[in-house]
Amino acid sequence: MKRQKPPHLDLSKNYWKNFLDKSDIAIDATLGNGFDTLYLAKILIEPANTKGKIICFDIQKKAIESSKLLLKENLKKESFKNISLLNKSHEDLTKHVTIKANLIVYNLGYLPGSDKKITTKSKTTISSIESAFKLLAKKGAISIISYPGHFEGEKEEIALIEYLKKIDKKEYNVLHFRWLNKEKAPSFFWIEKK
Ligand SMILES: C[S@@+](CC[C@H](N)C(=O)[O-])C[C@H]1O[C@@H](n2cnc3c(N)ncnc32)[C@H](O)[C@@H]1O
Repeated sequence: MKRQKPPHLDLSKNYWKNFLDKSDIAIDATLGNGFDTLYLAKILIEPANTKGKIICFDIQKKAIESSKLLLKENLKKESFKNISLLNKSHEDLTKHVTIKANLIVYNLGYLPGSDKKITTKSKTTISSIESAFKLLAKKGAISIISYPGHFEGEKEEIALIEYLKKIDKKEYNVLHFRWLNKEKAPSFFWIEKK
């Protein structure tokens, strides 16, 4: 089978892979079950044991615990010192992160298989992205996947589009990918600092 991940996840990960250099710094603003962080760790930290770092956020302890398990099972022990798992909201990333990041990723929505009411919300998401802009390194990027298939997700995507449309084109390229022949399909946004 050629395709293993849903197309929006595949697309975002291909962007990350082509964009990142080993030893870059990434922030996973929505850790969830840790799959995105694991993918980033394989690029940034393993196998060469480079100086790459990943700082991760999730408001649910459950997410931190399940990610810890996944990462332990799939990464070398020494790679852990380069990954921080913070059981905190991403609302203001600058409160917890002081270094510049090359890539900041958001996979919005709720933890799969968990309480759907605990989901990312437009107000905190926009505020987080505002803080992400402050932390971006030169030529850094922000990757966002949004899910309009549920009520909060739809509100969030509309707010995101309105917000991102106004980003200064002299400073950033803002791309929006959406499957046109599928209703309420997830969107992928890629924002690159010039
Ligand atoms: C779709 S999941 C992320 C999937 C994940 N990246 C993965 O690879 O498994 C979205 C996550 O965002 C988390 N979340 C919701 N609001 C948040 C907030 N304000 N700050 C940080 N995480 C939040 C949820 O708890 C949930 O685990």
